[in-house]
Amino acid sequence: MRIGIIGAGNIGATLAKHFRRLQHTVLIANSRGPETLAELAKETGATPVAIREAANGVDLLVIAIPMKSVPELPQDLLANLPPKSPIIDTGNYYPLRDGRIPDLDRGLAESAWTSRHLRRPVIKAMNNIVSDSLLKKALPRGAKKRIALPVAGENAQSKKTVMDLLDAVGFDSLDAGSLSESWRFQPGTPAYCPDPTIKQLPKLLERAKRDKAPASRDTAAKLMAKLPPDFPPQELVRVSRLSAGLDLLNPRSWFALLHLLSVAIRSR
Ligand SMILES: NC(=O)c1ccc[n+]([C@@H]2O[C@H](COP(=O)([O-])OP(=O)(O)OC[C@H]3O[C@@H](n4cnc5c(N)ncnc54)[C@H](OP(=O)(O)O)[C@@H]3O)[C@@H](O)[C@H]2O)c1
Repeated sequence: MRIGIIGAGNIGATLAKHFRRLQHTVLIANSRGPETLAELAKETGATPVAIREAANGVDLLVIAIPMKSVPELPQDLLANLPPKSPIIDTGNYYPLRDGRIPDLDRGLAESAWTSRHLRRPVIKAMNNIVSDSLLKKALPRGAKKRIALPVAGENAQSKKTVMDLLDAVGFDSLDAGSLSESWRFQPGTPAYCPDPTIKQLPKLLERAKRDKAPASRDTAAKLMAKLPPDFPPQELVRVSRLSAGLDLLNPRSWFALLHLLSVAIRSR
């Protein structure tokens, strides 16, 4: 496939690596221009391009930028994107990072908001896995601990394309319904970043509480802001698993929680 990625940070760069490993052609763009992506190009074999070029004639487009940047995307970004090419939105809303977005504060699903801005349907996927897990925890089909990711959207064919791609990359996936249901794996929900298996994921989605998620998201974001950038990402995953009710008997999870709290308190 010919895949465009807008955003070359944690998620965009990780996906570029995976897609290139699978021999796909990858066009990748950031906000500062292709000349700033030479190193990533060398490392991955992805081709750095200008933003519009990333969506030009590709079979799949991934949007991996902060929510606050979505309205800054060019109005004619999708002019040359074939109508059948799916768009994956990996975005999450963090008011602490993105500022307040009233429609999202009123409960509109985050990817529905992105879809409105793009004036095209999108598929929500890969927003609820930390980039470290996305990079390092891909496993072959059938592996016992293979992570399962929810995929939401309206178009069945687009969802299938995305789910097949996830399988090739190394993840199980679950059809999580339409975009209006995708709040179930937004920040602050049990399915947000605990690296569940396909057996665990449906229960986590069921247990999501729409009215409680924003407060949990903001508490987590405040805590995260106190951590140094090199805080071990897999300890964050262990804490996410604990708060999702997984691994409650695993001492390593509790150590991770104590470590996180002690670092956060010390950084006050
Ligand atoms: N980090 C994670 O573990 C993770 C996991 C799942 C989902 N997500 C979500 O995925 C999205 C991306 O996260 P990230 O961690 O990859 O972000 P990041 O590391 O901060 O990278 C953001 C990328 O977006 C680019 N960008 C920003 N504004 C742009 C614009 N107007 N046009 C084109 N490119 C633009 C940036 O380019 P410049 O550097 O040139 O500005 C940068 O390459 C966020 O919504 C995040 O919440 C993140």
